[in-house]
Amino acid sequence: MKTRITELFGIQHPIILPGMSWISTPKMVAAVSSAGGLGILATGPLDAEQTRAAIREIRSLTDKPFGVNASLLFPGAAENAKVALEEKVPVINFSLGKGDWIVKAAHAYGGKVVATVVNYRHAKRAQDYGCDAVQVTGHEAAAHGGDATTFCLVPSLASKLNIPIIVAGGVADGRGLAGAIALGADAAAMGTRLMSTKESPLHDNFKKLSVEKDIYDTVYSTRFDGLGCRVLNTSAARDAIRQGLNLRKMLEALPNSMEISKQLHLPYIKLFIGVLLSGWKNARQLAFMANAFKSIRAATEDGDVSRGVLTVGQATGLIHDIPTVAELIDRTVTDAETIMKDLTRMVDGRKSLTPKKEVKKAAGRPKKTAKPADQTATAPKKKDVTQKEKPSRKRGRKKVEKS
Ligand SMILES: Cc1cc2nc3c(=O)[nH]c(=O)nc-3n(C[C@H](O)[C@H](O)[C@H](O)COP(=O)(O)O)c2cc1C
Repeated sequence: MKTRITELFGIQHPIILPGMSWISTPKMVAAVSSAGGLGILATGPLDAEQTRAAIREIRSLTDKPFGVNASLLFPGAAENAKVALEEKVPVINFSLGKGDWIVKAAHAYGGKVVATVVNYRHAKRAQDYGCDAVQVTGHEAAAHGGDATTFCLVPSLASKLNIPIIVAGGVADGRGLAGAIALGADAAAMGTRLMSTKESPLHDNFKKLSVEKDIYDTVYSTRFDGLGCRVLNTSAARDAIRQGLNLRKMLEALPNSMEISKQLHLPYIKLFIGVLLSGWKNARQLAFMANAFKSIRAATEDGDVSRGVLTVGQATGLIHDIPTVAELIDRTVTDAETIMKDLTRMVDGRKSLTPKKEVKKAAGRPKKTAKPADQTATAPKKKDVTQKEKPSRKRGRKKVEKS
């Protein structure tokens, strides 16, 4: 399948591994790029030297194009982006900040730049200062999706922008990829889906949960990391959201932020004073981030379902197996192409050839069961969760009864 994104990046398939902290590691990036997609390294948990080593490791594993992500709000992210530019990484993806300086430096060596955005204003601004593409994140996505869902966000932006769009949020199979392209996107970033593959470093406990959980089993709140963020609805997640940044969580942020000072190679006391002087808003955001980093790491690396919190999109309900990266990409593209050919046949008035296995799979999916860790906690307060995703108590009780 050829799109403006496959042409722009020189890749075979319009499938992207987005930069997911603790998941999009060098091996995972290389697996996706070798399978014909574009793997993007997450630098959130890395310092500058680790970023350089990771880029070199990717190059030792694959000769295919790849990318590096920098979430500019994270401490140390600008330094990591500078390393990616020095290493002349083919694609740089930035989020949560203004990356005009990245565009200038990347274009000087022929690199491409993708801005991650959630609305038209930021997308237009990124296009105006020279970004080659935008990754637009719908409300159903893992982590920091915007207010609008993919189904409305993509066509709205596609009709206003000239640069290609990568959609992030809700794409987990060939139906999603074909749908994304029909809506006006040129590729799909599949975070939640690629996170549950054989090569993914995600702990097996959470891979298992991702197969069990349904599309309703996530919550969206600003009380997890201080930004609107979607996570898997577990007792640890509900507890984190219920507490927000209360006194206990503020105190916990003190030791938790030591990780950040280590990452920045800054004496802890210097970081502490610097943050206090930067104002309450920054200090609060960093405290949220320090606690969130700790609990995401406990989920991804340790598989701790009682303390760990995992950012997950609603697409978790579309996951029924743990394939290899190559198997997943191959079947996603094959199914999308079959659907597209089938739609053409329908337009021509010929018989539909939609593969029935896809329909059967959705109908005969394994029963989703709640884990014991999820059964003890109460649902978050109404104000913590957007009305649309307020977990249905009725549905939750039913699931527990079933298990
Ligand atoms: C475990 C995990 C960690 C993530 N970390 C980051 C990150 O560090 N920076 C970022 O820009 N996006 C991050 N994301 C969001 C993804 O880049 C992407 O926007 C999202 O997964 C797309 O939606 P989907 O999950 O429905 O496919 C993360 C997602 C997951 C699942």
